[in-house]
Amino acid sequence: MNPIELIQTKRDGGTHTAGELKEWIHSYVRKEVPDYQMSAWLMAVFLKGMTPAETGALTDAMVTSGEVLDLGAHFEQSADKHSTGGVGDKTSLITIPLAASCGVKVAKMSGRGLGHTGGTIDKLESIPGFQTSISKEAFLSQLESLGLVIAGQTADLAPADKLIYALRDVTATIEALPLIASSIMSKKIAAGAKNIVLDVKYGQGAFMKTVDEAVRLAKAMVDIGQHLHRQVVAYVTDMNQPLGHAIGNALEVKEAVDTLKGNGPKDLLSVSTKLASEMVSLAFHMPLDQALATVEESLRSGQALEMMKHMITHQGGEWDASANQPKLPEAPVLVPVTAEMSGYIAGMDALAIGRIVMGLGAGRIRKEDTIDPRPGIVIHASIGDFVEKEKVFATIHARSKEEAEQARKSLIDALIFTQKEVTSAPLIYARVTENGTEFYSS
Ligand code: URA
Repeated sequence: MNPIELIQTKRDGGTHTAGELKEWIHSYVRKEVPDYQMSAWLMAVFLKGMTPAETGALTDAMVTSGEVLDLGAHFEQSADKHSTGGVGDKTSLITIPLAASCGVKVAKMSGRGLGHTGGTIDKLESIPGFQTSISKEAFLSQLESLGLVIAGQTADLAPADKLIYALRDVTATIEALPLIASSIMSKKIAAGAKNIVLDVKYGQGAFMKTVDEAVRLAKAMVDIGQHLHRQVVAYVTDMNQPLGHAIGNALEVKEAVDTLKGNGPKDLLSVSTKLASEMVSLAFHMPLDQALATVEESLRSGQALEMMKHMITHQGGEWDASANQPKLPEAPVLVPVTAEMSGYIAGMDALAIGRIVMGLGAGRIRKEDTIDPRPGIVIHASIGDFVEKEKVFATIHARSKEEAEQARKSLIDALIFTQKEVTSAPLIYARVTENGTEFYSS
């Protein structure tokens, strides 16, 4: 392979073979291709795009650049779930125990939060004692005994993605659709599951700002699944306001547990049960309505909550038996936020809200930053709700009065109130499968 010819081909809008892509990516991981040539190629991909076959082959090359987890006898009934990230997005904490309590084998490798979006691993680590860094043997052994395990992503899976992502970050090539799709899917496929359910978020608080971009990303990832013999279903869901009420690590774990107890917010419950029923449907080849009924029964009977409890205690987390929830740390300062005038909530700047919560200490700006599990915001209202003047519509959980006051002011600025009634956008916008895209209006 001649790197200059390969770059020229992409620069001029040509296509690569699967063999060329594998050699290119693997040579880069072996450090035989320098960063400047990989950067030039990434920019050519950014400008000229890739065919679905190329994107599939690129993903395969990234998967085979490292270890692929072998789930053995559990492969057929295994399913993974991934969200492209949002504010207050704690669906994994509900969807995964729900699906596992219905018999789906879930071996999930999850990420940490970076920027304004939270990560499942950070949320789980707010439970004292919970271990997210476990050996491969312990990971597979818990899958065997419990059928559910969640751990942090290891460096052995898709190492090409790690290297290329770092380069994209500094060469203005993050936003290329085939690069995003292959990056996400390479990690999912390397983690070993046969069935993959994706939640592609769009809106102010999401990576994809428009619904069209989100649908295109969802389709690209479903196509990759087809190329690499994985069953993939992708939902496109709204992130123009935080999902559920709580934003902040320990607060989100509490809200997830409340949802498993049947006391969760409607939007969160709706997305979580839909995603879980897709996992059940794919793993057991079950019609979707039957899978949804199975999931709802598991929620109603408390089996899903039991599964969550077993997973937490297996991984060293402390469980408060009297409250029937994990032990969670609490912020020392609680400040209520009241409305300055009566009105309907017409909009919430989810990105700004995510950043306010980061400012309270709940997120990290650099990878090495430590986060505080306690702070966050609980917004008791959603877009379309009427809020009366001087009534409390949110609560700030903070480390100090000063941080709480700063967050209170910023939160008021992040909300738009109106005197006219407003209708909120559909929560679930589309469902993408290899058979096509269904759009929903409500
Ligand atoms: N998340 C990923 O894992 N990769 C991307 O390229 C973008 C978001």
